[in-house]
Parts: sequence; structure tokens; C-alpha cells
Amino acid sequence: MTDHPPTAATPFDVPRPAVRPRRLRRTPALRRLVAETRVSGADLVLPMFVKEGLTEPAPVPSMPGVLQHTRDSLRKAAREAVEAGVGGLMLFAVPAQKDAEGSGATDPGGALNTAVADLVAEVGDATTVMADLCLDEFTDHGHCGVLAADGSVDNDATLDRYAAMAVALAEAGTHLVGPSGMMDGQVRAVRTALDAAGHTGVGVLAYAAKYASAFFGPFRDAVDSSLTGDRRTYQMDPANGAEALREVALDVAEGADAVMVKPALSYLDVVRRTADAVDVPVAAYQVSGEYAMVEAAAARGWIERDRAIAETLTSIRRAGASIILTYWAVEAARELS
Ligand code: PBG
Repeated sequence: MTDHPPTAATPFDVPRPAVRPRRLRRTPALRRLVAETRVSGADLVLPMFVKEGLTEPAPVPSMPGVLQHTRDSLRKAAREAVEAGVGGLMLFAVPAQKDAEGSGATDPGGALNTAVADLVAEVGDATTVMADLCLDEFTDHGHCGVLAADGSVDNDATLDRYAAMAVALAEAGTHLVGPSGMMDGQVRAVRTALDAAGHTGVGVLAYAAKYASAFFGPFRDAVDSSLTGDRRTYQMDPANGAEALREVALDVAEGADAVMVKPALSYLDVVRRTADAVDVPVAAYQVSGEYAMVEAAAARGWIERDRAIAETLTSIRRAGASIILTYWAVEAARELS
């Protein structure tokens, strides 16, 4: 090709491109115009923590900016989140008492059920109130289910507890329950119990592909976790992708209204494969460790915080998640409005 003569810079005839993708990157307005992916506040769900018996909100050391709320501060923060335009709230509670069965989870006066009722009273249908449906915050051993005599997590005995917990959360007024314990058959157990109790309108956002992840570390601070050991006999092995699709398919078949992949950033391939495989909404949970990594690096001046946050959320959306659970939900929703 001789489309360009040699220049002072080079004696060679360097070919000039006929196609120039850079044209569409030239100005901020052009870049905005051709952006394929947008995140809006309505896509974002804020996970929130409430702790029974707390008199002042308490910072979570490994999650700067995140609080364990009192009943009152939870209501106030929920109102602020709704005003910021977030799409939903996902509630976690830290009970004052824990026991082997996680009794607090099914007690109508327990920390989580009370908090759900408080939030529904505070914000009504102005946002979607969701509750994490799992026993780990309520058990003294910290596992997501009840234990068999040999110390293993008893799948089917746990299903009975989840069924009861789902009904308690529905009675408290939750819009969606999020079964997150990775027990086999949990979605069907929960759906059946909800329907039998007349709560046919309460939906199931299934934590379908949840991995045994090191990125949950800071969350254990946020819920004063009692766990020793790990959750590898029920949560998925990070090595597996096809298995995630099987978990997702099972959950959809069992009646999940939406499915979740968790964590998000290390599993964007799983988010994409899930979005391609199902026609229910796909959520991804940007978990505590993902939050902590960015905050910690930003605090040291090693990363541009706001750009990094926007980039992670955009990437999760680009991978195919229509719903993103993120501890930055309120800040990001404000930024995006
Ligand atoms: C289980 C649950 C966990 C998280 C959400 N639901 C902890 C776990 O499975 O160990 C982690 C969320 C996060 O790390 O942000 N109740």
C-alpha cells in the first residue's frame, strides 16, 4: 500500500487505517452517545445491616462507610436510600441471641422480621424490600443451616427452617426473599411454604450461584459472624462454571423469580453465561470484599475511587446483570441521577 508517503518521522510507507474507531471516542458527548451500557439507580440494591439492642449505629471496620444500624437509624437510612433512587434494599440482621437452630430467624419479634416490618412501614412500596433468607446470622455455630449429629450441615432439616423463615418474612411484609444458604431444594421449599401460607405474591430472588468466596470476609464483621471453618460443603467451588448453570436452571425450575450470581467481579463469566441462559432477571452481588478492596486502595491513594466504582458497576451490568447489589448503591444512585 502506498497511501501515505514517507514522513520525516519514518522512512517507511506506514499504512494509514481506513477504519478509525477513535472517531467515536473524540468527545465526552460522543462517548456518552455510543455507550452500550448504562447503570441507573433503579438497578441498584443496597444491602443493610441492623443489629438488635444497638443504641448507636456502629461502623464496620473492614467496610469503611458501612454501618450496623439501630432500628431507628435503619429506618432513616432506608428513607435516604429511597430518596436517592435505589431500586431495592436487602436486609441482614444481627440478633442479640444465637442458638443451634437459629430460632431468631423465625421469631416474628426477631431482629430481621422486625426490621422488615419497620422498613415496610417506613417506605411502603416506594422501593423493593428484600430479606436475606439464611440462618448464619442466627446460629451460634455460624453455619447457614442446622447441623446433623456428625456436625455436617443437614440439608433437609435446614429446608424446614427456611420454609418457616420465608413465611415469617412474608408475614413481616417483605416483597422478596433471598434464600442464600445454597441448600439443595431451597427454592422449592420456600416457594411451596409461601404459597401454602397464602403469600403467593411474595417473590424469590434466589442466590443461585453462590461461591465459597474469600471475598465475603468483611461481611463476617458486619454480621458478627460466629463461623469457624468454611462453607465449602454447600457454597460452590470457584473452579466451576457449568455447575453454576445447573444451579441456576434448578432454581428457575423450582420457581425462582430472579436469580443471583455472587460474588460479582471474579464471576463475570458466570453472570454472562447465566444471562444468556435464562429469561428471568439476573442479579449480581458486589460483595463486601469487592467493596473493601476498592475502599482500601483508594484510602491509600492507589486507585481513583469514583472511577473505579463506576467501572466495576458498569462491568457487572455489561456482563448481563440487570440488578446489582452494592454497598455503594446510595452514592452511585445519587451520582447517576
Ligand atoms: C449469608 C450471606 C453471606 C453474604 C450474603 N449472604 C455470607 C456468607 O455466605 O458467608 C455475603 C455478602 C458480602 O460479603 O457482602 N447470609
